[in-house]
Amino acid sequence: MKPAKITVIGAGNVGASLGQRLVEKDFADIVLLDIIEGLPQGKALDILESSPVVGFTHRITGSNDYADTAGSDVVVITSGATRKPGMTREDLLKINTGIVSGVVKEVVKHSPDCTIIVVANPVDAMTWVAWKASGFPRSRVLGLSGVLDGARLATFIALEMSVPVTDVSCYVLGEHGTSMVVFPRLAMVKGKPITGLMPEETVNRLVQRAVNGGAEIVGLLKTASAFYAPSAAVARMVASIIGDKKEIMPCAACLDGEYGLKNVVVGVPVKLGKGGIKEIVDLKLTHDELKALAASADAVKKQIESIVL
Ligand code: 2OP
Repeated sequence: MKPAKITVIGAGNVGASLGQRLVEKDFADIVLLDIIEGLPQGKALDILESSPVVGFTHRITGSNDYADTAGSDVVVITSGATRKPGMTREDLLKINTGIVSGVVKEVVKHSPDCTIIVVANPVDAMTWVAWKASGFPRSRVLGLSGVLDGARLATFIALEMSVPVTDVSCYVLGEHGTSMVVFPRLAMVKGKPITGLMPEETVNRLVQRAVNGGAEIVGLLKTASAFYAPSAAVARMVASIIGDKKEIMPCAACLDGEYGLKNVVVGVPVKLGKGGIKEIVDLKLTHDELKALAASADAVKKQIESIVL
């Protein structure tokens, strides 16, 4: 049987580390594509040469030609400008709209049946761009958001509580940006809400650190944004899609009435399986929680309104 095929657009930090994580999971062949001559080819060959040591048998190849991506099951768009210290994700809106819509046209031409995962920022607006530019059903277009933000919050909770991070579960919804929405009642350590385990000011400090998580890394790295946690988060999403695992995770999704929101992309819990989003899961949020999510969606709507495709 033909192996599954995943294309990663962009061989920068996120794309290359994602290519490595995916091929090491050994469930699909990977194509790493970039416009820079030699960059994807060199990084893919270097990763492939680790296969005898790591033990994976699938292939990873680098290319500058979209024809080599043809027939992909999943295409991840990591290409685009990244933040510098002091920049917001929103500052990347104009330049990345052009990059993402151009990439999507090539993706649709070569892999018309694929599922698109967007990483480029501002990711909610860029996921909306990919949805509109591709003409795909919204179930086949999603973005990296809450899996990454939730991983950051879980990390900070585990550090604070001195517990294994595997004891922590939490949801971060809404915009992958400063208006992201954290419901502390949904953040648990061994099934107990953190609101009963630590003072409110500690909860707020950890939540704020998660909201600022991307900027914290940019501030430390100075010339790059995060890539280890983003690539791990995307690899988890891809594994659920390719393996038809139907895992429920918070992703940027195109809404058409769910949570009372329409024609907007924000992070909501989705069930990921073969072909992409199998279901948008209703968390039965309270009135106040729905209001917070709607306010976050408004921040994304403002970005979308300024987009000219
Ligand atoms: C982050 O939060 C790159 O948006 C990504 O690090």
